[in-house]
Amino acid sequence: MITATASGKIILFGEHAVVYQRPAIAVPVSQVQARVTIKKTKQPLTIDAQDQRRKISYTDLRDDDPLKAIIRLTLTSFKVTPPHATLTLHSTIPIASGLGSGAAVSTAIARALAKYFKRDLDSAAISSLVYEVEKIHHGTPSGIDNTVIAYSKPVYFVRGQPIETFNVAQPFRIAIADTGIQSPTKIAVGDVRAAWEADKDRYEKIFDGCGGIAQHARKLIKEGQPDQLGSLMNENHELLRQMGVSCRELDDLVDAATRAGAFGAKLSGGGRGGNMIALVNESNESRVREALMGAGAKRVLITEVNRDT
Ligand code: PMV
Repeated sequence: MITATASGKIILFGEHAVVYQRPAIAVPVSQVQARVTIKKTKQPLTIDAQDQRRKISYTDLRDDDPLKAIIRLTLTSFKVTPPHATLTLHSTIPIASGLGSGAAVSTAIARALAKYFKRDLDSAAISSLVYEVEKIHHGTPSGIDNTVIAYSKPVYFVRGQPIETFNVAQPFRIAIADTGIQSPTKIAVGDVRAAWEADKDRYEKIFDGCGGIAQHARKLIKEGQPDQLGSLMNENHELLRQMGVSCRELDDLVDAATRAGAFGAKLSGGGRGGNMIALVNESNESRVREALMGAGAKRVLITEVNRDT
């Protein structure tokens, strides 16, 4: 039996503006994962999507189903036909919440198929296969999700430019709180596009602000001054509010985290729900966690961003 996994991710800085060629920073979150096993059988390929309680033969999946798409693309790149096997899928990454669930599921499937067929599939190849599937989920994805998840490393991402992974000189801790509201990225991205079309000057300025924040943040992370990231998170959240992608529940969690002593906080990902993140340390993280739960968070994870994230 073959097993492969892929981590979730958070965007630390620059979501949405990254679609418009501004830089963004994302890091993997290994506490939540997609896991895929492949077991040889005598039957044609069957997909057992345990979280959806759905067991379906590969041929019965719709052509635009993301599961079918990643399997088809991976098999085509290997020039092989579907194996006689059961592919079982289980993920602890909440869906439509900004944690990269779709990209992680696709990455884990591509990695598992590569192991099954004993092929070398490097991070760049996985990332580009997953990007094709992200287009089904998102419409016009920037490519940041597939990149950070396929490379499993912190990335400084600029659409259309070579991948830049970077060093984390001093580890730092992030609380990740889930509003429990599922919010498809495609809709938020589409709304930002419409608003940008209507007032390009205003939106270009907001995107420039986000890009400048991401650049500054990369410097602080590389130089080992992560404690100063908090004020950049607050500034980035304000710009995301101005873009129209926050919501009351996210703002409430951001306020609760800051009042409880977090060094800064912002929404993370597409917005309008999903997750927010807050910069914490070991001495304030339990207080921040309690405050977030008290302000309506459905779940709080603490992750450490470090060299080996
Ligand atoms: O998948 P999410 O919700 O983390 O959002 C992706 C980030 C966006 O910048 C909003 C969209 C994109 O394609 O980069």
